[in-house]
Amino acid sequence: MVRGPGQAADFWSGVGVDLQHNPDAPAGRRAGLEHALRDAVREGRLAPGTRLPATRRLAAELGISRGTAKAAYDQLVAEGYLTARQGSGTEVAPLPSDAVPPAADDTRARAPRFDLRPGSPDVGAFPAAAWLRAMRRAIATAPSLAYDYGDPRGRIELRTALSGYLSRARGVLAPPDRIVITSGYVQGLALLTRVLDGGAVAMEDPGSPFHRDVVRRNGGSVVPVRVDERGACADELEDASAVVVTPAHQYPTGVTLHPERRRALTDWARAGGGLIVENDYDGEFRYDRQPLGALQGMAPNHVVYLGTASKTLGPALRLGWMVLPPHLVDAVADAKLHSDHHTESMGQLALAEMVTGHAYDRHVRAGRLRYRRRRDQLLDLLGPGRDVRGIAAGLHALVDVEDEAEVLARAEAEGLAVGRLGDHWHTPGMSASSGNGRPQGLVIGYGTPRERAYTEALEVLGKVLEGTAAGGR
Ligand SMILES: Cc1ncc(COP(=O)(O)O)c(C=O)c1O
Repeated sequence: MVRGPGQAADFWSGVGVDLQHNPDAPAGRRAGLEHALRDAVREGRLAPGTRLPATRRLAAELGISRGTAKAAYDQLVAEGYLTARQGSGTEVAPLPSDAVPPAADDTRARAPRFDLRPGSPDVGAFPAAAWLRAMRRAIATAPSLAYDYGDPRGRIELRTALSGYLSRARGVLAPPDRIVITSGYVQGLALLTRVLDGGAVAMEDPGSPFHRDVVRRNGGSVVPVRVDERGACADELEDASAVVVTPAHQYPTGVTLHPERRRALTDWARAGGGLIVENDYDGEFRYDRQPLGALQGMAPNHVVYLGTASKTLGPALRLGWMVLPPHLVDAVADAKLHSDHHTESMGQLALAEMVTGHAYDRHVRAGRLRYRRRRDQLLDLLGPGRDVRGIAAGLHALVDVEDEAEVLARAEAEGLAVGRLGDHWHTPGMSASSGNGRPQGLVIGYGTPRERAYTEALEVLGKVLEGTAAGGR
């Protein structure tokens, strides 16, 4: 297979091995190829004794020069990963056992073959070149004080950039002095729980079990708030002092919070002093109509808005942001100070560069197109016979099935991982909405696979669902 230099050649048909090689790797082609080969040997994807293609053929397959291929082979021979003998070509060398990481520590070894679990974007689409440019600029222009301890709320450059972005893209009222940069949504939730100090926190049912644990482990008590086809039921908040909601795209049902519920929630907050915590984790990805403004814009003094770069860029960055009502800023900044001083500064500066230079918008726009295409592919596969919810936005959809356990077992047998609605209820085996006969469904994360793996993952999903009964409520 010959690919142009601009295309990602991320598998290597010559040896039938996923080399995960990106010829546009920012480190350069030779270093990228060396990395890919080294990893493939270390992880056992290229077994000892495997004969590698001649440099001429490898170069043609990957769309690189023969000199680059040869230099990469020579380097790995020098490092002992490969052996080269006159006349018999280049082979993978036998590796001492301690050079191979134990399988249990290797997340990729444990990863399912086909991954349609919700939670991650396509991290293969991380804009490495744009990030590198932004980081370079950030470091070139940062004052030396940027390397010292700083404001617990985060870098002013990023807070200023986000202030404009959030107002423009999400309708959030976000003066920089009300923003606290966090290491992701989860840290924001933890800090808030500590600041609220023990009051009952209402959380959507179904919702993320991990986020419920985060609240509990930070001293909060969690109470369920039912979710129906209009989103969280605002009339069930009773004694809660705060409610955590996902208005743009409820996790995991995908429902958009109905305008009446938005009003009811803000009325509840205004009347009793309750706090709304808005988790806007995938609000940038809306496909069927104009982006829906954040709830925070309706009641900025009663809503804590939490956003994250985990879906737009990648969870590894650990970058998120909170926009706080004025009365909470000092307390949250103090909690942040006592947690980790502040979030790592250079990443903040790089993100600020990307936002002000509009590289962030461009990346989000490209992602929106890609994920919309994936969503359409999913809908085509499922056809009209299956009820699919939550397709207007985000990176996951809820597919009704009659028997989760049966479908999950079939999926596992095919090497396919998907999310399970049943894991999201507050009370396992019971749903708040239907007593003991709860609806069942698969939470399909169509953002997760790499681009090249998506179609195949969908085909496997189609096979798994074939012949299983659709649910329906
Ligand atoms: C419902 C929900 N909220 C928030 C997040 C993002 O969390 P964080 O910013 O801590 O990575 C995710 C990511 O998977 C999510 O699924």
